[in-house]
Amino acid sequence: MNDDILGMYDSFKSSLLELKNKEDLETLRVSMLGRKGAITEKLKNLSSIEDIEEKKVLGKEINDFKKFVEENIVLARTNLTELDFLSSVEKSYIDITLSGRRPSIAAINILTKVEEEIISIFRSLGFGVAEGFELEDDYHNFEALNMPYYHPARDNHDTFFVSSDRLIRTHTSGMQIRLMKDINPPIAAISPGKVGRRDAIDAKHSAVFHQIEGFLVDKDVSFNHLKGLLELFCKRIFGNSTKIRLRPDFFPFVEPGVDLSATCVVCKGEGCKTCGYEGWLEILGGGMIHPNVFEHVGYDTNKYTGFAFGMGVERIAMLKYGITDIRMFYENDIDFLKQW
Ligand code: PHE
Repeated sequence: MNDDILGMYDSFKSSLLELKNKEDLETLRVSMLGRKGAITEKLKNLSSIEDIEEKKVLGKEINDFKKFVEENIVLARTNLTELDFLSSVEKSYIDITLSGRRPSIAAINILTKVEEEIISIFRSLGFGVAEGFELEDDYHNFEALNMPYYHPARDNHDTFFVSSDRLIRTHTSGMQIRLMKDINPPIAAISPGKVGRRDAIDAKHSAVFHQIEGFLVDKDVSFNHLKGLLELFCKRIFGNSTKIRLRPDFFPFVEPGVDLSATCVVCKGEGCKTCGYEGWLEILGGGMIHPNVFEHVGYDTNKYTGFAFGMGVERIAMLKYGITDIRMFYENDIDFLKQW
């Protein structure tokens, strides 16, 4: 073989070994096969050789070398691509010896838990459960609950009206009407659900909150039944040592109406910041169902009496768990939600 070409083989092979990246490879390729590359030059020089035999032999040797160079450049490119890949893997190296991050497991919201607890207490006492509609009509939310359109008590319910007759229910009491219209006494039911009022939002008020309505109608139902039931409920939800206090209150759909307080869950009645140093916390409203309500649903007022009560789920959850801001329930703050 021509010495020159032999030398070219050697230097090409050692260049190949020194390649560090694709730029080096490209430089090498151009130096060999480019327009002014060593091989191109060699091929050009062929024409100056006069001896046909010599020209033929040298030509073949140059072309063999050219083929060798081309094949090795392709191989080198593949190797460099693989190297690139390996080094990128190395950069994103996963240390399997590191301890893992524990995924957090979702839990039931504390508000839902309290709602379920209240429901299960009444269920265990024989109350049925019926959810109503969040969008109510004027009749069920007000009219049939002894609040005709001119009644001043409507002002206490800052109502979101959707149309002249549709509104976001301001309380769950409308479900008393729907259920009593459907079912004849004896009836005992509770109705949990979302309600809405145009309240300014602060630590104690939310425009949307949750209530649980309860009522019972039968022959000879007295106020004592209501008192006994609510006392039992308070002991179950807040603890056995809880006492209750009833004070007169006004709701158009009950007569007499009461407001029930339970001994403060924090100070047990001693007086503290939570209860405003009174020892008592207002929990719910209730009373004996007004005869006008019975008239609306077609119950015989001479035959039946009944009681009704309604409570805010947020309020009970806040008191039970010492939550001081109602907005915490809705903000989905993971640290808050994780506590329970
Ligand atoms: N619906 C009343 C309210 O939202 C609560 C209540 C229910 C009072 C039933 C008496 C009887 O404030």
